[in-house]
Amino acid sequence: MAYQTLTVEIDDNVALIRLNRPEALNALNSQLMQELGDALTEADRNEKVRCIVLTGSDKAFAAGADIKEMSSKSFVDVYTENLFGDEVDRITATRKPIIAAVAGYALGGGCELAMACDFIICADNAKFGQPEINLGVIAGIGGTQRLTRFVGKSKSMEMHLTGRFMDSAEAERSGLVSRVVPAAKLIPEAVAAARKIAEKSQIAVMAAKEAVNRAYETTLSEGLLFERRNFQAMFATEDQKEGMSAFLEKREPQFRDR
Ligand code: CAA
Repeated sequence: MAYQTLTVEIDDNVALIRLNRPEALNALNSQLMQELGDALTEADRNEKVRCIVLTGSDKAFAAGADIKEMSSKSFVDVYTENLFGDEVDRITATRKPIIAAVAGYALGGGCELAMACDFIICADNAKFGQPEINLGVIAGIGGTQRLTRFVGKSKSMEMHLTGRFMDSAEAERSGLVSRVVPAAKLIPEAVAAARKIAEKSQIAVMAAKEAVNRAYETTLSEGLLFERRNFQAMFATEDQKEGMSAFLEKREPQFRDR
């Protein structure tokens, strides 16, 4: 499918989705969010895709929701259209892993979009923030909830109340990103991580993703039970036999997603 606000390249089982509204630092408007949802649905259905990398430009992953598009909306408008609610749900409903590769600004909805992915690798020039407070509003697509779970109440509260930005070193230190890489290596590093995931059993990858995400949705005892049952269920797969036999036979496993 052809998109106007993003590009999709599929190579070696990895879909690289690049947000592409350079004139607005990849600000998230309704067209971009709709197209992103469509691109993710398409990648989820495409058998050639086993992992997804979502990125922006060198200057901005995304500078937030599109302020020009939003500024004249009323409460009734955003309530009835459920501004971005359905689109964000499409991101988290994606079953294949999504790595956010963040360079430059990830602000407001941009930071929230990165956090809705499965993990974040960032460039050393990345800047994260929830500056909605400066616009007289608050975060609207997950920031108050997800940032708090990533970095804890104190830092999240400070960022939401003051609108200050966090640099890449602070983002790594506080657990918002899995690692920081030099800006020039961001895409190769993120794609290499995606290729590594693409080599695994897709059943185990999906089960691991579901189990980690469950940690955010439930109690410890329910989460542990969910993990244990899914670990046990893996023993019904051919990939478990293949993975363990390959280890014992000192060879690389050939997973078949069965
Ligand atoms: N929406 C619409 N347009 C935006 C935008 C946004 N969020 N962010 C940047 N742009 C546009 C600018 O208007 C500008 O366009 P023009 O050249 O036509 O004027 C262009 O992108 C370049 O931006 P700047 O000239 O401002 O670039 P800069 O390098 O001086 O500053 C910046 C960069 C610090 C990111 C600054 O652009 C900025 O503060 N952007 C807004 C960040 C923000 O407040 N984000 C939160 C939005 S609300 C939200 O996201 C709600 C939610 O949770 C769903």
